[in-house]
Amino acid sequence: MLSWKGLFRMNDVPDISVRLAGLYLKNPVIMASGTSGYGEEFASFIDLNQLGGIVVKGTSVRERLGNPPGRIVETASGMLNSIGLQNVGVKRFIREKLPFLRKLDTSIIVNIVGDTVEEYQEVAMRLDEVEGISALEMNISCPNVKEGCMLFGTDPRQTYQAVKSVRKTTTLPLMVKLSPNVTDITVIAKAAADGGADILSLINSLSGMAVDINTRKPLLGNIIGGLSGPAIKPVALRMVWEVHKAELGLPLIGIGGIMTATDAIEFFMVGASAVQIGTANLIDPTASVKVAEGIRRYCVDTGIKNISELVGLLNC
Ligand SMILES: Cc1cc2nc3c(=O)[nH]c(=O)nc-3n(C[C@H](O)[C@H](O)[C@H](O)COP(=O)(O)O)c2cc1C
Repeated sequence: MLSWKGLFRMNDVPDISVRLAGLYLKNPVIMASGTSGYGEEFASFIDLNQLGGIVVKGTSVRERLGNPPGRIVETASGMLNSIGLQNVGVKRFIREKLPFLRKLDTSIIVNIVGDTVEEYQEVAMRLDEVEGISALEMNISCPNVKEGCMLFGTDPRQTYQAVKSVRKTTTLPLMVKLSPNVTDITVIAKAAADGGADILSLINSLSGMAVDINTRKPLLGNIIGGLSGPAIKPVALRMVWEVHKAELGLPLIGIGGIMTATDAIEFFMVGASAVQIGTANLIDPTASVKVAEGIRRYCVDTGIKNISELVGLLNC
């Protein structure tokens, strides 16, 4: 039996779990796609069960080898990558990667990619048939593959069609990941909502490039890559805020340059219900767990009983 002291302490523990349209997260911190591999790569650094969720690498119908090197360039307060969606393909993902992931006590989200709507549909259908996946994240925003993908995220009609088509093929909660490489992100967000998205995640990396002045060549084999890390946080915050203000009625997941709990809390205040951590994982593999712990501590210190109290709290 609990003493009154025990009860007091229990009531004092903030609830930082999140429910987003059928997706349950034990805490609001998710490892972002492409920066956490298939989870297993991080298992010797952190207890993966402490995460709200893991978004696995962008998964396509067929295995992809990705872009030629160089694939990574460090920049001021960030990095450029042009991995080019290297991944094992959906069949091998189900056979080789999912058995490890489904044993974890955390939400598993699969980031899906395609060059055509039919390819997105095929990946979604295959993932709908297996146990252990909590949600899909549709990547309509990859800045560093030449064909397909990016187009779906920069044209509202294509966004609407692609999301609507995938919506029909899956019973899983459908998250749509938005590109920052647009003039008005709320137009694309609305198209995704109209197409049947359950959740919006934003942002993917910003298109960028880097030059070697000695060889006079681009540093990335693909010439153009995606900028991520602290350099993009102000842009990401602004975009989450704009989509929040558009009142589309969908929960938002904030992504972009989050390194600390303070960064994450800024995203909650501009309207995100959860966050994803990307580049920070590559600098400190324990970053996501530290951010979750820091959020919990902030709630205790400031008397927040439920993490939802922070969402959209910005005073302006
Ligand atoms: C090396 C690398 C690979 C990535 N691969 C993917 C991917 O496969 N699919 C995807 O949707 N986003 C991918 N991203 C984008 C991240 O998930 C995230 O949206 C972006 O990096 C911004 O967050 P950050 O500043 O915290 O890194 C990748 C990012 C990096 C750095």
